[in-house]
Amino acid sequence: MNKSLRKAIIAGNWKMNKTRPEAKELLEAIKPLVANAGEVEVIACVPYTNLETAVNTVAGSNVKIGAENVHFEKSGAFTGEISADMLTELGVEYVVIGHSERRQYFGETDETVNKRTKAALAAGLKPIVCVGELLWERECNITEEVIARQIKLDLFDVSAADVKKTVIAYEPVWAIGTGKTATADQAEEVCSFIRATLAKLYDQATADAVTIQYGGSMNAGNAAELLSKPNVDGGLIGGASLKAADFNTIVQAAVNGQ
Ligand code: PGA
Repeated sequence: MNKSLRKAIIAGNWKMNKTRPEAKELLEAIKPLVANAGEVEVIACVPYTNLETAVNTVAGSNVKIGAENVHFEKSGAFTGEISADMLTELGVEYVVIGHSERRQYFGETDETVNKRTKAALAAGLKPIVCVGELLWERECNITEEVIARQIKLDLFDVSAADVKKTVIAYEPVWAIGTGKTATADQAEEVCSFIRATLAKLYDQATADAVTIQYGGSMNAGNAAELLSKPNVDGGLIGGASLKAADFNTIVQAAVNGQ
């Protein structure tokens, strides 16, 4: 499996953390550390209120900014929601879609993930679509069924050209924020299964071009081993993305794993 066929991407997912001054401080600390990342794409996905500050702070650097969600309609009576056009107008390039916290606490379904993904792509945003099994689904030995269903539904009607602009984040729900990381072999097994599923839905060349990240308690200590796996092309990092040094260690692990 040739990793050079696709981009390595390390993305921080800040979740509901950081005020604007704190966001600026963290990004100012991250920028010089990751300036040598070269071909590795470095992204910070930040709360809506921090987006403008974040875009301005990283201007002229190799750090890209993402949002943590996007609504699927272009505009209208959707109180509290943010459209894809509002994000692109700000200079946002990526957006996390279908994070398990949104699925678990905010009623996100595969149908709405699919709608958001298509709306993001139509507006020129690159979606980071999150999939992952619950602990009891893994224990019931249906991880592959769960993941295949999510991939099929979340990417329904997304063209091959668009899926190449889409990042898939494999985040086993039991590993998020728990300190329980999937082993590198478990991560590789599911990331490789995701690629095989993409190859069936599209074709092998398309599947080979899609960046597949692992997420779930990835940190400075375990990143190198996870990222050494042939189908683990990057990471979606929660807790460890809030510390510049730890986030940079993960970025450097990706740089060295190229
Ligand atoms: P974590 O979060 O790294 O804190 O486990 C990952 C994520 O939710 O994207």
